[in-house]
Amino acid sequence: MLNIKIEKTTSPRQKPDYNNLGFGRHFTDHMFIMDYSDGTWNNPRIVPYNDITLSPAAMVFHYGQEMFEGLKAYYTKDGNIQLFRPQKNIERMNRTNDRICIPRINPDDALQAIKAIVEVDKEWIPTSEGTSLYIRPFIIATEPHLGVAPSKTYMFIIILSPVASYYAEGLNPVKIYIENKYVRAVKGGTGFAKIGGNYVASLKAQMDAKELGYSQVLWLDGVEHKYVDEVGAMNVFFVIGDEVVTPSLDEGSILPGVTRDSCLALLKKWGIKATERRISVDELAQAYDRGELKEVFGTGTAAVISPVGELNYNGKIMTINDGKIGTISQKLYDVMTGIQWGNLADDMGWIERV
Ligand code: COI
Repeated sequence: MLNIKIEKTTSPRQKPDYNNLGFGRHFTDHMFIMDYSDGTWNNPRIVPYNDITLSPAAMVFHYGQEMFEGLKAYYTKDGNIQLFRPQKNIERMNRTNDRICIPRINPDDALQAIKAIVEVDKEWIPTSEGTSLYIRPFIIATEPHLGVAPSKTYMFIIILSPVASYYAEGLNPVKIYIENKYVRAVKGGTGFAKIGGNYVASLKAQMDAKELGYSQVLWLDGVEHKYVDEVGAMNVFFVIGDEVVTPSLDEGSILPGVTRDSCLALLKKWGIKATERRISVDELAQAYDRGELKEVFGTGTAAVISPVGELNYNGKIMTINDGKIGTISQKLYDVMTGIQWGNLADDMGWIERV
């Protein structure tokens, strides 16, 4: 159990326009910080949101030893604050930590820290439909040292951001470019870990795709350039005939998304055939030509369920479901957000009250 010191701000900030939040642009009044030094996590505290000071030699600036997580808090109609499967994010945080040599954080302490900062800034949780409080825990290497080695000191920080949809399109389908030049991850690499390095490596492809009018790229495997991996900000699902398929986690090259896992569980519960396996881009193109590629959607904490209306593979344009959201995507969105916002019973046991 952490003994968290709380220092409240004396100058609360102006709340943003809750009808025009966008994603990740506004931050609340406080942040949680805990240090790692002398072999232990210590000094847990909640302080006014502010800039932090680091040595220019801090290792995070040089070799990128950094990880992050993303989850959300929701206000229910009856005034409860709830989190969605936070334990899954915390488990993933420690798997990421293991991969990039950051010391683990006790899962109970991490959950306590998340709940404490959400409680302090609960007035910032937006209430209108489609909005939530995005929680961004992250860890940075702070030791001033230019040797390539794991840092001996770290900061674990949690900041909060009231958000609406990740994509400007909202629940309208996005256009995705199937990347044929750059790769995101290979087996044995860091694709499964939630580290900044995976995301910076994706920027060039994303910017090139943007110039062509696409919101994001769909990554193919890094070896054969043949099998579908993920979109980067989300995992991806395809409805082919009467089967829902999504890339399996076996290669270790995609993020084990919490929303991905939840969609698989709901589909199984509804008796819809849902399979995790390798999916080649040729299989998709052939299914499209046969008229069997019925729906494509992305899943993620930030993106929730994001329907895909168009895929472009080497100039072959595949228009999915006439550019409209499909039945399965809509049902997953309705049920997932229904549970998250407390409008539907939590019969999966996914909700954690703050
Ligand atoms: C999330 O869905 O929480 C993510 O971390 C994706 C992100 C890069 C915005």
